[in-house]
Amino acid sequence: MTKKNEKNNLEEKLEDHEIEDFSEDLQERIADLEELNDSLLDETKRNEGEKKYIKSEMVRLQKEIQRLRFELDRMKTPPMIIGTIKDVLTDGRVVVKSSTGPDFIVSTAEYISPENVIIGARVALNKQSLAVVGVLPPSLDPVVLGGEVIDKPEKSYADIGGLDDQIREIREAVEDPLLKPELYEKVGIDPPKGVLLVGPPGTGKTLLAKAVAHQTNATFIRFVGSELVQKYIGEGARLVRELFDMARDKAPTIVFIDELDSVGAKRLEVATSGDREVQRTLMQLLSELDGFDAIENIKIIGATNRPDILDDALLRPGRFDRIIEIPVPNYKARLEIFKIHSSKMSIAKKVDFQEIAARTEGVSGADIKAICTEAGMFAIRESRTRIKMLDLTMAIDKVTVVDVEDGPKDSQMFA
Ligand SMILES: Nc1ncnc2c1ncn2[C@@H]1O[C@H](COP(=O)(O)OP(=O)(O)OP(=O)(O)O)[C@@H](O)[C@H]1O
Ligand SMILES: [Mg+2]
Repeated sequence: MTKKNEKNNLEEKLEDHEIEDFSEDLQERIADLEELNDSLLDETKRNEGEKKYIKSEMVRLQKEIQRLRFELDRMKTPPMIIGTIKDVLTDGRVVVKSSTGPDFIVSTAEYISPENVIIGARVALNKQSLAVVGVLPPSLDPVVLGGEVIDKPEKSYADIGGLDDQIREIREAVEDPLLKPELYEKVGIDPPKGVLLVGPPGTGKTLLAKAVAHQTNATFIRFVGSELVQKYIGEGARLVRELFDMARDKAPTIVFIDELDSVGAKRLEVATSGDREVQRTLMQLLSELDGFDAIENIKIIGATNRPDILDDALLRPGRFDRIIEIPVPNYKARLEIFKIHSSKMSIAKKVDFQEIAARTEGVSGADIKAICTEAGMFAIRESRTRIKMLDLTMAIDKVTVVDVEDGPKDSQMFA
């Protein structure tokens, strides 16, 4: 009975206005709360993002602290002394020659693997106990490292005029042994170790070596002889040794020593201490030339315009055993060189290079290049963009007159 009553009561109330009001109120509050909830959710998201950022920042800063601590430690470590191992004793200790002077018997740190502890190795020594605490890589002088040509020169055989025979010879002597060593093995001869390019100044020796570098995939190491002559006693010889060490390391290699006469001049009886240093460098060079087998993929190209002053020992078979003479260009060669150097210039149709070539007896390739440039300058002076015959003839006069002032070309030397 009572239940029924209650139900009736409720139904009555539902219809009642008050309850409707109440429900509206509730809905409003719910909406408010939802809104609040949304904004709180947003805020937590934001906070979470911030937290992440701060965490990563913390990690970064911790790393920074670590790095700085490490750096500080590194700054605080006492310097180590460099030494060379002279002997390895049976009890595991070693005899080192420190760079400060006397020899010492010292022990080596446990973590250094014994196979690295060899006679001649460069090692780091603790300052106090002089114990070997590290093995250093063999040193290569930055000067030597700088000799390696990484970007191949732009010059190619096509840029060389009138030296077809010489190009063929250098390819036979340098490129073929590197590319087809089996050919030489079959025939049973040692390929030439090195070639020497000789000829008057400006005839294209350096150019030819550059073209070889361009052509092959071998490592190309270039040195000017004078760079090998050093100020301190023994330095030049060490440079030469390191140069060949690097050549061996990076084989196949072509070593090009330009202006060879600056190290390879004849050894004299009376010599100043400077001369003796040059001679030491030369002797090291000679022994390096003997030191590697012809089969080892190293080829040497030397260049000089003073073959007459070269030491005979350099030229004996087994060293620079091929001499390639680069002559002053003849008529045909001059014509070719003119064509090469004028190929990018704007030349009037009437210009007759055959006549020009005929008029330039005795000039070198470098002179021809200078003549072409001068002719261009004459044209520019008259604000023309095309080079006429007259420009070239004037340029020839200008360039060859300078030569006469310098004294006549000494072509007997190469006769
Ligand atoms: N045969 C040639 N064909 C084309 N250009 C040449 C030739 N010979 C010389 N030249 C030009 O002359 C310039 C100088 O030549 P290069 O440096 O090869 O002379 P070099 O023989 O090494 O002289 P040096 O004995 O004085 O060192 C070259 O850059 C090139 O422009
Ligand atoms: Mg040169």
